[in-house]
Amino acid sequence: MERILITGALGQLGNAFVKNFNKTNSYLLATDIKHPKKKINCDFEILDVLNKEKIDLLVEKYKINIIYHLAAILSANGEINPFNSWKLNMDSFQNIAEVSIKHNIEKIFWPSSIAVFGTESKLSLVSQNPSMNPSTMYGVTKLAGEKLANYYFKKFKLDIRSLRYPGVISTKTVPGGGTTDYVIEMINAAKKEKNYNCYLHKDTELPMIYIDDAIESAIKLMSIERKKISIYGSYNITSFSISPKKLIEEINKNGYKIKVEYNIDSRQKIADSWPRKIDDSKAKNDWGWKPKYGLDSSIKKSLND
Ligand SMILES: NC(=O)c1ccc[n+]([C@@H]2O[C@H](COP(=O)([O-])OP(=O)(O)OC[C@H]3O[C@@H](n4cnc5c(N)ncnc54)[C@H](O)[C@@H]3O)[C@@H](O)[C@H]2O)c1
Repeated sequence: MERILITGALGQLGNAFVKNFNKTNSYLLATDIKHPKKKINCDFEILDVLNKEKIDLLVEKYKINIIYHLAAILSANGEINPFNSWKLNMDSFQNIAEVSIKHNIEKIFWPSSIAVFGTESKLSLVSQNPSMNPSTMYGVTKLAGEKLANYYFKKFKLDIRSLRYPGVISTKTVPGGGTTDYVIEMINAAKKEKNYNCYLHKDTELPMIYIDDAIESAIKLMSIERKKISIYGSYNITSFSISPKKLIEEINKNGYKIKVEYNIDSRQKIADSWPRKIDDSKAKNDWGWKPKYGLDSSIKKSLND
């Protein structure tokens, strides 16, 4: 039986993973550094991922065999205190790896990000393994994590599986300080008939994925035989690319009106170093990745959520 522990379970992705696993027969232990505001339908424990002893204790106590390690400081927030970002993202990765090796954890899901690329990655369409020069501490930690995942697999047979998520779109739970957050913020503003102040230039195109596809893709990657995995770091995946201007068109097309002003901030520089489109053919070929939601359906669904 799958006995799953999720770290950062109250965040944007964590919430959606918890809902997903609640529909299955798997045992689920949700953890986070903060208390849930609403009741969640599974066991919950406070866990700071920097506390290796507590991770060890919970894995032992709840007989965990699978970990979804989601706790992290995201791109824009990471730049406020890059040293903190390195500490949280890397020390937690090391803690999870060490405890997992000790307890023979079968599989770990750990999301990477399109932040691993950089201006040297041919951003018009990034391949699986281009030259990479991440511009943020967040991207540096994700690239380091990918290298460690590869290393730990070769050294200890530790099975860490990973996807380089583009911006994840979900309107119910919003992410904690990323560069692609404007999509969710603008959709939520349109629903409330509020004006929106956009921090990215109207033509900045970035890749996105709808939350259901983000969850499905991880579940699929975690379900396949390890021998099908040819990428030992993290797989490129994407659904569609969108700019603020295009998003306004989509919002209008769906019968909503929104007035957007542009007030470009430091996130523009981050976005300029991120890909516009992504080649995810390796994920498609290796384990049949295929998004269910494209541009039209993701925006329509988000407006109606
Ligand atoms: N959301 C996106 O668009 C996106 C894109 C690419 C990759 N990712 C990756 O997916 C993962 C989850 O992202 P998210 O959007 O759900 O993030 P989020 O910011 O919404 O959630 C992170 C959660 O981690 C918790 N947390 C923070 N510090 C902690 C600590 N010390 N110990 C335990 N928990 C702690 C927070 O309370 C929060 O609930 C991250 O690794 C992120 O890098 C997200």
